[in-house]
Amino acid sequence: MFTGVPATSQTRHVAGRAVGPVGLGCMGMSFAYTPSTRDDDASVAVLRRALDAGPQLVDTADVYGPFTNEELVGRALRDRRDDAVLATKGGLVVRDERAEVIDRDARPEHLRAAIDASLQRLGVDHVDLWYLHRVDPDVPLEESWGVLAEAVQRGKARAIGLSEVSVDELERAHAIHPVAALQSELSLWTRDPILEGTLDWCARHGAAFVPFCPLGRGYLTGTVGGTFDVDDMRSRHARFTPEAQAVNVRIVEQVRAIAAGVGATPAQVALAWTLAQGPHVVPIPGTRNPAHLDENLAAADVVLDDATLARLDLLPPAEGARYGRSGPPVRPA
Ligand SMILES: NC(=O)c1ccc[n+]([C@@H]2O[C@H](COP(=O)([O-])OP(=O)(O)OC[C@H]3O[C@@H](n4cnc5c(N)ncnc54)[C@H](OP(=O)(O)O)[C@@H]3O)[C@@H](O)[C@H]2O)c1
Repeated sequence: MFTGVPATSQTRHVAGRAVGPVGLGCMGMSFAYTPSTRDDDASVAVLRRALDAGPQLVDTADVYGPFTNEELVGRALRDRRDDAVLATKGGLVVRDERAEVIDRDARPEHLRAAIDASLQRLGVDHVDLWYLHRVDPDVPLEESWGVLAEAVQRGKARAIGLSEVSVDELERAHAIHPVAALQSELSLWTRDPILEGTLDWCARHGAAFVPFCPLGRGYLTGTVGGTFDVDDMRSRHARFTPEAQAVNVRIVEQVRAIAAGVGATPAQVALAWTLAQGPHVVPIPGTRNPAHLDENLAAADVVLDDATLARLDLLPPAEGARYGRSGPPVRPA
């Protein structure tokens, strides 16, 4: 259906840098989903293909792998550093990989060591954007954010951002150092940032809003579902139980019908909907597949008119919580 890397003349801005409207999330290349189908060489090729379309927001984190995703991204960017607007995150640690126990650690000493280790794995002297992956309930936000601000002063990060925080937390951080970006889950089946006001806060304060899981971990594309390998996180997510999928399939059916009506794919409609939430929005769909990458980048050219957006606003709510089935410790991936 798509030939070559789609080029779009549109640009958006993240951390003061122009980027294509649709970025690339790299987590699934090394973490969270179907380990049996991971292929580092293929993922590096996908990353480099994304950069062929023009400067792109490339998203990773030290906790993905853990650590191996930053190494993979560094490998892909080795001779192409300036083609990427490179974002990573710190503040989470994997305590037990098999049991999938991930803790928050945003103590200053941890964060100071984390940025140095991230830069080393990525093979760069600075990142364009460094996020606090989660606020640590045991550490005042001001202390953690102060370390991120210090990284900007020391030239290790050009700009800094937060992930999954409230308007109050955005305000507290912004009073110390400008928040360049907020990365939170936003998609056709997760609209919390609209309801909670963080999407709007970013628009009013010149911050980019970066939707993670904009494809609903693949579900909204209509091609991902059923049962998952036990080591695929979705096998433990409430929205992916057989019972939840039996309900959530209604969302996919409607997205599929709307996509057919506008001559696009369901994935493109899901991404175009995030782009329609404001010019400050840059989604980061994850993919390891070059055809999916091309399809996702081309979503920037899918225009949804007001009537279509209104139909998408009437989709049924998702069945099941965003993360684990029963009060997980922290499952940020
Ligand atoms: N801040 C946070 O706490 C946080 C949490 C989660 C994720 N993230 C970031 O957000 C990024 C994106 O999230 P995500 O990867 O979890 O979920 P996602 O982008 O919603 O979905 C990824 C899934 O969709 C599939 N997919 C992608 N494009 C497709 C297409 N055009 N057609 C059919 N299937 C398609 C992928 O499989 P294929 O590989 O086969 O294409 C993969 O299974 C991550 O990579 C990570 O960087 C951040």
